[in-house]
Order: sequence, then structure tokens, then C-alpha cells
Amino acid sequence: MKHPPAQIHLPTVLHTLMVLVLISIPISNAKSMIEPCSSSDSCSSLLGYILPYDSELAEISYRFRINASDLLAANSISPKTLGDQIFHAKAFLRVPISCPCVDGIRRSLSTTYTVQAADTPDSISAGFGGLVSAEQIRDTNGINTQNPLMSGEKLVIPLPCTCFDNVNNGIASVYMSYVVQRGDGLGSIGAEFGVSTMNLVAVNGLGQPEVDPGDILSIPISACSSANLNWYNESLIVPNGSYALTANNCIKCSCGQHDLNLRCGTSGIATTCSQLQCKGSDLFIGDSHVNQTATGCNITTCVYRGHLGGKIFRSLANSSQAPCPGNQSSNAASPFSFDPGVPSIAISPSPSQSISPSTGALAPMSGQNFNISSNGRLLVTALSFSLLPLQLGILFLL
Ligand SMILES: *[C@@H]1O[C@H](CO)[C@@H](O)[C@H](O)[C@H]1NC(C)=O
Ligand SMILES: *[C@@H]1O[C@H](CO)[C@@H](O)[C@H](O)[C@H]1NC(C)=O
Ligand SMILES: *[C@@H]1O[C@H](CO)[C@@H](O)[C@H](O)[C@H]1NC(C)=O
Ligand SMILES: *[C@@H]1O[C@H](CO)[C@@H](O)[C@H](O)[C@H]1NC(C)=O
Ligand SMILES: *[C@@H]1O[C@H](CO)[C@@H](O)[C@H](O)[C@H]1NC(C)=O
Ligand SMILES: *[C@@H]1O[C@H](CO)[C@@H](O)[C@H](O)[C@H]1NC(C)=O
Ligand SMILES: *[C@@H]1O[C@H](CO)[C@@H](O)[C@H](O)[C@H]1NC(C)=O
Ligand SMILES: *[C@@H]1O[C@H](CO)[C@@H](O)[C@H](O)[C@H]1NC(C)=O
Repeated sequence: MKHPPAQIHLPTVLHTLMVLVLISIPISNAKSMIEPCSSSDSCSSLLGYILPYDSELAEISYRFRINASDLLAANSISPKTLGDQIFHAKAFLRVPISCPCVDGIRRSLSTTYTVQAADTPDSISAGFGGLVSAEQIRDTNGINTQNPLMSGEKLVIPLPCTCFDNVNNGIASVYMSYVVQRGDGLGSIGAEFGVSTMNLVAVNGLGQPEVDPGDILSIPISACSSANLNWYNESLIVPNGSYALTANNCIKCSCGQHDLNLRCGTSGIATTCSQLQCKGSDLFIGDSHVNQTATGCNITTCVYRGHLGGKIFRSLANSSQAPCPGNQSSNAASPFSFDPGVPSIAISPSPSQSISPSTGALAPMSGQNFNISSNGRLLVTALSFSLLPLQLGILFLL
């Protein structure tokens, strides 16, 4: 069994659209999933990268030829981290890559590597966490005994990726290529990434629910998208657990904590942003006024509507009799949620109103109106969260 054929992927939602081909994956005994394609489009995808050694942020982004800001965003790490932060060996990072269609299959060829003195194809493969095999490095670059690695030589590093129309079982998803580690099983991998074993088997076209170390799995990560938000000229798909910066970095969007609705607010990192305030109000994008009533809350939110030609679109959206933020008995449906990593804060003046770090939700209100700001202007400095009530999404459809 030197070169077993690739496992064939056949997602039920796509099976009528796809012609599948058998392609040999040149990794001894290792399986990888191949997505045939014919279009010239590309999609957002992720690599699951387990760091082989301690590396600085800049080193990792250089290794994959991606932007450090994008790497932070994919991992929901504050952009304030940009600098010489060290990520330790064995740490898990999501690496965002664009997934084009090259010669009939999905894969990324945009990463290059400059050979160092002591490198071997195996050491280079290890540096990329096994996402590319030594044999793939040799094949892609014509390395053999006549043509050995030369120090200073530039290699193309083919990296595995899949798109599957950014959908999994009808849910917007971004696919992550993950190298199975020693000790991993489908169950443990599924549990870690919130995917059922059955789904992993189906997505990866596994004949039986078994994987071996070195296999590369395609893991669907649920995402929230702007598809139904009626945005101007902009479509965005953000995997749960990531954020995205848009509109010249003026706007930051991420999934809600309890749902897959896209929430956008001011990013607070770009300095030259205008048109962030909703007309006829004192609210900035992502901010809300909340008025408590006898039966619920009236909420007015300044929502992001996309950008075009340097112009940022936004509008006020109202929802009346909505669940109040922090009504803990209706937490799951709460329109308010905070980005992970937001420090615990108290809303003055009442010390009883505090953000619970565990749930990220506002504690119950004591019957008064208040304002919520997406970047903490009215609360505390550096508080950064965004909100978009579930109910408000419906307003866009009207
Ligand atoms: C990385 O992306 C950020 C935000 O999009 C941008 O401001 C910056 O110029 C980019 N850096 C490089 C090196 O491309
Ligand atoms: C962007 O919007 C303009 C005006 O609404 C429209 O004419 C144009 O086709 C849109 N472009 C894209 C790529 O959607
Ligand atoms: C998003 O991810 C978080 C943490 O990774 C998880 O707790 C939550 O259930 C996920 N949300 C959805 C809607 O899948
Ligand atoms: C809080 O939730 C409970 C149960 O969901 C509901 O009966 C109550 O009206 C809610 N209160 C507010 C202020 O939204
Ligand atoms: C909340 O109350 C203020 C005045 O107290 C009013 O201006 C505002 O329109 C109200 N907002 C909602 C959503 O009812
Ligand atoms: C929302 O309510 C405000 C007043 O509270 C009003 O000025 C505005 O027109 C309303 N917007 C929508 C979209 O209903
Ligand atoms: C809440 O909204 C309802 C319906 O829009 C309105 O009748 C009511 O006066 C509002 N209450 C407050 C406190 O703004
Ligand atoms: C909310 O902000 C408005 C405008 O700045 C202000 O008039 C109002 O008093 C604020 N409400 C609360 C509860 O702070």
C-alpha cells in the first residue's frame, strides 16, 4: 500500500454538482481529502497549524506568506498583540488562507519557502506542521537525487484546502485542513471543533470512521455570514472563533456568542474612520440605546450595512419588546454578547450591573435605561464588543 488513492469527499449538498476524481496523494499511508473544482473562484479557508517550535507572530505569518493582522483575526486575538509575541511549540493556530482552484483541484500554492543550509524535505514538512509532506515538496519542486535541495532555493509549498461552497449541512461554514495527531480519534477531533463524527466521516468521505496520524481532515467550522444582511457590495463569512476587519479596518465583525449572527461594531484600531455614526442619533456603529419597558426592552442599534467606494453604510434599527440584555433566564436568546477576551467591567453607577466573565452577558438590569457602546466610550475604555440583536436581522429583510 504505497500510494493509496485519496479519500473521496462527497458532501450531500453538493453531490449533484461535483464530478469526483481519484488523485494519488503521495504520502505513505496518509489520507487527504481532495475537492475537485472547475471554477476560477477562491474561498476563505483555514489551516489547523500545530506549531513545531516556538515562533514569533511575524515568523508564522512570514512562513505562510500571510498578513499578521489576518492571523490574529483568525484566532480572535486582539490586534493590540501585534508585536513580538511568542507562540509556543504545540500551540494550535488557525492560519487563514485563500483557497483557489488550481489545475482542477482546490489547493493553495501561494506559500513559498527559501531553503536554509541544513534543510531536508522532511524538516521543511515538519516546519509546516505536516500540512505538506516531504514527498509533495519533492514532487512539486522537482527535487530528486539529480536535483537536490540547494540552500537559498525557493520552493513552492502546496497546502491543502477545501471550499465546498462554504456550506455544511445547510450551515455557512469555513473548512479547516487539520493534520491528525498521534492519539487523535474522530471523536476527540469532533469534540474539539464542535463537529459530529458522522459529519466528519461524511465530509471526508471516509470508508470507515478511522483516521491515522498524518491524515489530513477537512473540518467544517460553523460561520456567520453577511449573506442575509442586505449589505452593500460586500459579502463576508467569518468562522466562529474568528473576527474580521472590514471597511479599511474601521469595522470589526464576529459571530455572536450564542448564535451564528454576524455582529459588527467600530474596530477602534483604525485612526482615519469617518461615517461611523448613525444619522439623526448619537449612536456609532454597533452601539445601542436600551429602554426598559414593562414587557421587555426597546432597543435602537446603529447597524453596519456594508461599504462601497470608501463610503461606510449604516442605519438605525429598532426592536421593541425584545429580551433585555442580561436577562439570565433568556441568556441564550440575548441579543447582547461580547467578544471573547473582554475584561470584566462594571457599568456605572450601579455596582450590581456587571459583566459576567463566564457568560459574557450583562447581569440583570435594575429597571433603568442605559446606553451601550461598541467601543466602550460610555462604559470603560478599551471595552470592545459588538451587538446585533437577532430581531434586528429581520428588519433588513423587510
Ligand atoms: C496587513 O493587513 C492590514 C489590515 O488589512 C493592512 O493594514 C496592512 O498593510 C497589511 N500588511 C501587509 C504587510 O500586507
Ligand atoms: C456595487 O453597488 C453598485 C451600486 O449599488 C452596483 O452598481 C454594483 O454593481 C455593485 N457591485 C458589486 C460587485 O456588487
Ligand atoms: C462558537 O464557538 C464557541 C467556542 O468555541 C462555542 O462555545 C459556541 O457553541 C460556538 N457557537 C456556535 C453557534 O456554534
Ligand atoms: C426575562 O425573561 C423572562 C423569561 O424568558 C421573561 O418572562 C421576562 O419578561 C424577561 N424580562 C425582561 C425584562 O426581558
Ligand atoms: C428610549 O427613550 C429615549 C428617551 O428616554 C427616546 O429618545 C428613545 O427614542 C427611546 N428608544 C427606544 C428604542 O424606544
Ligand atoms: C427607530 O426609532 C427612532 C426613534 O426611537 C426613529 O427615529 C427611527 O426612525 C426608527 N427607525 C426605524 C428603522 O424604525
Ligand atoms: C417601546 O416601543 C413601543 C412600540 O414601539 C412603544 O409603544 C413604547 O412607547 C416604547 N417604550 C419606551 C420606554 O420607549
Ligand atoms: C444615553 O445617551 C444619551 C445621549 O448621549 C443621553 O441623553 C442619555 O441620558 C443616556 N442615557 C443613559 C441612561 O445614560
